[in-house]
Amino acid sequence: MPSGKLKKTSKKLKEDPYLVIKWYWTNYFKKYWPILVIGIFFMSLEGSMLGLLSYSIKSMFDKVFIPSNQSALISVGFIIFLIFFLRSCAGLIQRLIVTWVGQKVEKSLQQKLLEKLINLGLPFYDKTSPGVLIERMRVDTRLITSSAGSIFMTLVKDGIALVSLITVALYVDWKWTVIAFIGAPILVIPIFLLQKWIRKISGENRNIEADLSISLDEIFHGISILKLYSLQTYRLNSFKKLLEKVRKIKLKIEGGVASTPALIDFIAGIGFLGVMIFGGAQIVSGEKSIGDFMAFFTAMALIFEPLRRLSNVAGNFQVMLASADKVHELFMVQSPLPATNGLKYINKKINFLGDINFENVSLIKGNKKILDDITFSIPSGQLVALVGKSGAGKSSILKLITGILIPTRGKIFIDGVDISCIEPNELRSNISIIIQENQLFDETIYENIKIGKLDATKTEILNACDISYVKEFSDNMPKKLYTKVGPRGSNLSGGQRQRVNIARALVRNCPILLLDEPTTALDSKSEELLQKAFKKASLKKTTIYISHKISNIKNANKIVVIDKGKVVEEGIHKNLINNKKLYYDLYNLQQIEGKVN
Ligand SMILES: Nc1ncnc2c1ncn2[C@@H]1O[C@H](COP(=O)(O)OP(=O)(O)OP(=O)(O)O)[C@@H](O)[C@H]1O
Ligand SMILES: [Mg+2]
Repeated sequence: MPSGKLKKTSKKLKEDPYLVIKWYWTNYFKKYWPILVIGIFFMSLEGSMLGLLSYSIKSMFDKVFIPSNQSALISVGFIIFLIFFLRSCAGLIQRLIVTWVGQKVEKSLQQKLLEKLINLGLPFYDKTSPGVLIERMRVDTRLITSSAGSIFMTLVKDGIALVSLITVALYVDWKWTVIAFIGAPILVIPIFLLQKWIRKISGENRNIEADLSISLDEIFHGISILKLYSLQTYRLNSFKKLLEKVRKIKLKIEGGVASTPALIDFIAGIGFLGVMIFGGAQIVSGEKSIGDFMAFFTAMALIFEPLRRLSNVAGNFQVMLASADKVHELFMVQSPLPATNGLKYINKKINFLGDINFENVSLIKGNKKILDDITFSIPSGQLVALVGKSGAGKSSILKLITGILIPTRGKIFIDGVDISCIEPNELRSNISIIIQENQLFDETIYENIKIGKLDATKTEILNACDISYVKEFSDNMPKKLYTKVGPRGSNLSGGQRQRVNIARALVRNCPILLLDEPTTALDSKSEELLQKAFKKASLKKTTIYISHKISNIKNANKIVVIDKGKVVEEGIHKNLINNKKLYYDLYNLQQIEGKVN
């Protein structure tokens, strides 16, 4: 099973942005290279039009205005119109291309990430909050593609614009150009340090944003508890604190990102001043034409927008990298390891009878022994109850049978087959499980039952509804079986939810039925009804029933008493009572409680 640990390589990649980017390129962007090349063509076209525009200014002054040449006016004007027209068409096409690729990649990133996450084992989910995962799935993947798109566009389009404008400037006068850029080298070190800092705080920002999602997830999932304990103000305040943190950190990021163009503007001002003094004198002396001067200054004025955007690229790249790193980290979480200890999965459909055997099974988590040398057996078709104090290890035993947990030592056999040799999905196709927690999706009652067996016929589902007493309440609902159960089954009562679960287990019709405290927190009338339904559902099935209430399980074929991870007693109710050990104590305690209540 998955350990949920990050691979060593991912740690290495985390430190190397180049490898992370390469990973995204190879897996998600590379296949679109032909269309990206077309995009580059149109970006280059759009960018180069700025150079042409500034150069056409020279002709405008030297050929039209200064010699007062009316006839050239139309042709120069037309050339300028053509430049703008080409620029607008190229701009539209390249933007469409970038958006198209971006959306394709975003979709595939989200799809692949969910595919990856959905197959990770529960230990991973024990450590990672759903809020974080939703944030990574929805926000980070979008940030990656949108930033990648705008960075790509800026690099190509503005890069080409910059080159074409500098070419015009150099062509007009290389000395003026050198003077204009004389201050640029001073910027290298501050910009480098700034980028490092932006990357660091962007990473922090992504973490706090994930905390915000966790907080929202907890608020909306726990809304009833929150109201019952009047925690609205408390939760609102902690949310406000997080929002304030995000606000401050975002301000820092924006400040950081905007600092680079600000630095460039400052250096540009110095350059301009130099050119004005040096170049202006050359114009006055007649050494250079007004057309030269205008073309140069247009080029310089036009350079600053692309240059500002290009200088932002490094900052935006760091912001993108923060998200890219986090999503990549999730992709690198180890996939479920085959728990076969070198053995291969049995490669065939298995239809169990449901004979279950635990042989010296121990389960250790960290340095805690959850189960200690458990050995017991359940013949097929029998009902076995697990009884014990809270935390004794009962639920863990069920998780071992379903393969959600893997024994640290020992083996579990079903019909003599070691379950570690059975592919987990194949194993689970033989098991129905009903637990206390919600197991319903926000679909109709009918669809929730059908989940048990996707190809179940309507007759099968209706039959199951009859046996499990679902019909009894669904008939009174507005759309009967086609009524939506609400988020996490909130439109149904606890007992009704469990009846839907029993109906699901019935259509599933598996040889093994596991029940983990399915009637806890229900009133005695609902419990009674459910007991009847369980009885029908467990007919001819190997059933393991965990119940804190001995009256529910006293007719079981066998009762296994668990204490501190060990089997301490085993037998039928009568014998266990006669033993006068833990079972007897638990029973007596409940008798007294029953009388008191
Ligand atoms: N994911 C986990 N990581 C670490 N320890 C765990 C984990 N899940 C359960 N445990 C520990 O394992 C022990 C047994 O838990 P388990 O849920 O099997 O008890 P239980 O008998 O079902 O209790 P209850 O009657 O309260 O449901 C507990 O002490 C619990 O703290
Ligand atoms: Mg339990």
